[in-house]
Amino acid sequence: MAWVERGHGPVVVLLHAFPLDHRVWEGPLEALSSTCRVMAPDLRGFGRSETTGGRVGMRQFAGDVAALLDALGIAEPVVLGGLSMGGYIALAFWQAFAHRLRALILCDTRAAADSAEAAAARRVAADRVLREGAAALADAMLPKLFSAQTIGQRPELVASIRAIIMANDPRGIAAATQGMAERPDMTAALPRVRCPALVIVGRDDAISPPAEMRAMADAMADASFVQIEDAGHLSPLENPRDVSRAMSEFLARLGP
Ligand code: MLT
Repeated sequence: MAWVERGHGPVVVLLHAFPLDHRVWEGPLEALSSTCRVMAPDLRGFGRSETTGGRVGMRQFAGDVAALLDALGIAEPVVLGGLSMGGYIALAFWQAFAHRLRALILCDTRAAADSAEAAAARRVAADRVLREGAAALADAMLPKLFSAQTIGQRPELVASIRAIIMANDPRGIAAATQGMAERPDMTAALPRVRCPALVIVGRDDAISPPAEMRAMADAMADASFVQIEDAGHLSPLENPRDVSRAMSEFLARLGP
């Protein structure tokens, strides 16, 4: 498993969205590194990490994160953040390894499972990526990942994300797609999340809308909610300054 890390101090691990890599966290990696040891892995099948085909479930990804911490000798509870699919994995990590968590940061993500139709569409998409490559998936996803403002005004950012998608192994993309289709509904589990949590959402997020994320925050015992202006689903990329500020303030409240 490949990862990047910056800084020293309490460990913060940031999990990327689908079908991207650690670079979605570039802004917060830099901003938080003055006070924390910030790590951003490439999840199995993405970036420079190894690919396994078939289906990779959220629990498997969470196990990979635990194994990375073990390999690095990190036994203390960590702050775990996840963007979108990274958030699905962060919740799976909480379910399996709650004792290893100091706090959660859930960014532009959902607790709900896929509907039957959405899961079926994902399986079709996974087969297509294996047959034809990721171009069609990239074209279908890109308009939903960003706010209309980002699409209109920052073509270079949109192009850089397309390049990340296209550089990923189609087998890794398909395996995660199959895994997301089968992820469980975590909504009923949210009241059992007892660690501090920060819920962040871009104001124009079309995939995990602010109202749904606010309801997630409300369902947890100790969660705060921050809405980010000038951002859609990929808020850490679209508005890294405000996302980093929300994360820094949350980490400062947690203390050393
Ligand atoms: C992501 O950004 O990780 C995806 O939009 C998640 C999903 O497809 O459910």
